[in-house]
Amino acid sequence: MMILLQVCLVIHLAGLALLAGTIVSELVVFRTFSIRFERDGVVSAGLVDLAARFPVVKAIGGGALILSGIGLFTVTQGAFGHQLWFQVKMLLILGLVINGFITGSKLERRLKEGIRTNESSLLKSAAINLQRFCMTELGLFLVIIVLAVFKFN
Ligand code: HEM
Repeated sequence: MMILLQVCLVIHLAGLALLAGTIVSELVVFRTFSIRFERDGVVSAGLVDLAARFPVVKAIGGGALILSGIGLFTVTQGAFGHQLWFQVKMLLILGLVINGFITGSKLERRLKEGIRTNESSLLKSAAINLQRFCMTELGLFLVIIVLAVFKFN
């Protein structure tokens, strides 16, 4: 059982690194996009192409994180299920996912719309709000990591 726990934990941490790392990359891309748009007034097609590839990597990282999390929960026979840190962690994960699907997708749609119609104010606000969105997601990640490591009870 110990080896199974360790394997799940390795996948859990690798998935976490992949997902959080990709969100950091997104933040850098949206920031560079904003700076270039402010400076040159043109949309950088290369950055848009790059950003379009991130969701696949995020899905792989997120999938590994959640599946290995379920694996960890099963291997530990739900031992953490009744502990406060774990319940708060689950609530925050729910928030992370819902925020990702609702706010993240809405902002990405707005950015695409801004690019398609070449509407400068829409483009600028979508790119700035996407940066705020990435920072919120990363902040939530940090709180979840602190909870999982310290296991306050
Ligand atoms: C954003 C999502 C997640 C993040 C950032 C995250 C982060 C972490 C981290 C850093 C640890 C290592 C703690 C340690 O061993 O000291 C951990 C452990 C754990 N995670 Fe997650 N996790 C996430 C999602 C999940 C999900 C969805 C589940 C279950 C359904 C889960 C269940 C567990 C369990 C049971 C442990 C304890 C393993 C142990 O200490 O023996 N996690 N998590």
